[in-house]
Amino acid sequence: MIPIARPNIGEREIELVLDVLNSGMLVQGPKVAALEKAFAAVCGVKYAVATSSGTTALHLALLAHDIGEGDEVITTPFTFIASASSVLFTGAKPVFVDIEEDTFNIDPNLIEAAITPRTKAILPVHLYGYVCDMDAIMDIAERHNLVVIEDACQAVGATYHGKVSGSFGTGTFSLYATKNVMSGEGGMITTNNDDIAEQCKLMRSHGMKVRYYHDMLGYNYRMSDLHAAIGLGQMERLEEFNAARKSNAQFLSEHITSVITPQVKPGYEHVWHQYTIRVDGNRDRDQAVKQLNQAGVGTGIFYPVPVHQQDYIREIVGEYRLPVSEKLAKEVISIPVHPQVSQADLEKIVEEVNRL
Ligand SMILES: Cc1ncc(COP(=O)(O)O)c(C=O)c1O
Repeated sequence: MIPIARPNIGEREIELVLDVLNSGMLVQGPKVAALEKAFAAVCGVKYAVATSSGTTALHLALLAHDIGEGDEVITTPFTFIASASSVLFTGAKPVFVDIEEDTFNIDPNLIEAAITPRTKAILPVHLYGYVCDMDAIMDIAERHNLVVIEDACQAVGATYHGKVSGSFGTGTFSLYATKNVMSGEGGMITTNNDDIAEQCKLMRSHGMKVRYYHDMLGYNYRMSDLHAAIGLGQMERLEEFNAARKSNAQFLSEHITSVITPQVKPGYEHVWHQYTIRVDGNRDRDQAVKQLNQAGVGTGIFYPVPVHQQDYIREIVGEYRLPVSEKLAKEVISIPVHPQVSQADLEKIVEEVNRL
């Protein structure tokens, strides 16, 4: 089976992890600091703050912007649950806005209608490695005095008119094992704002600046140096990884003819965390997945149920009708695009997809 994801671990990651083990400094030491520096450089921001996961990065970013009880945060339902559950952790309420059919991302044209006096933030998600229409989103945020927290968990290194994901508002990233660069588990917050960076640093470690003196309510959301060592090795290969994904995606797009393939608009640099095809409503997606898997092509469904239709979310936020998200959730199939997909694999994937 050609897997839908495969962590790409080289000698360098092993060497860096051994460094940490030999150093005896396992938590939040020099490797975390070096990873933060590398991330800030890639995003072109002043600060990067490492956390234990993308979810905890989102939680801290929201808290640092003072989002909590009584506030509303506008986001997309076509995402991983953490984009919305992190909002719920703070006591605030996620408000869902439908997506664009051609990009899978939040539709900026629908955002303003969802703004109420309680709206505090917009939380766009750069799904599959494709940045949202950030000019439109930043313009709305500015006019309505809203904070922007980017869920860039799938989009490290992706750009929009030359500007890197995670540098528009406060950025959040995941370094989970299957991401474009990973640390096993891990997360990152990116910002140019001194206060936000400071708050995030404090909250990730028990609200503590001086050992055992606690300035505020905090958490243990630290990243270990062992995880950071893996991430650091990966960051050295970010460009190589993203270039391989792009080249694989190009091959797939040039040769797949049987289904709808993802589009990249001018001015966008996609980093292809996922390559997602669509089987239209007249075809049976389950059957297509079965056929691909039986032929040895791994698949992923990201995501089968939009967040607003998850049972527990429905109980909290009530009933929504978001037709584009609901339709695409039934049509999407992600196929392997990661750097370890070989030319022979690509040819096999194309052949099997075109057989659908
Ligand atoms: C869009 C999105 N948001 C948030 C997360 C949460 O990241 P993590 O799994 O590192 O907590 C993920 C990762 O799966 C994600 O894909």
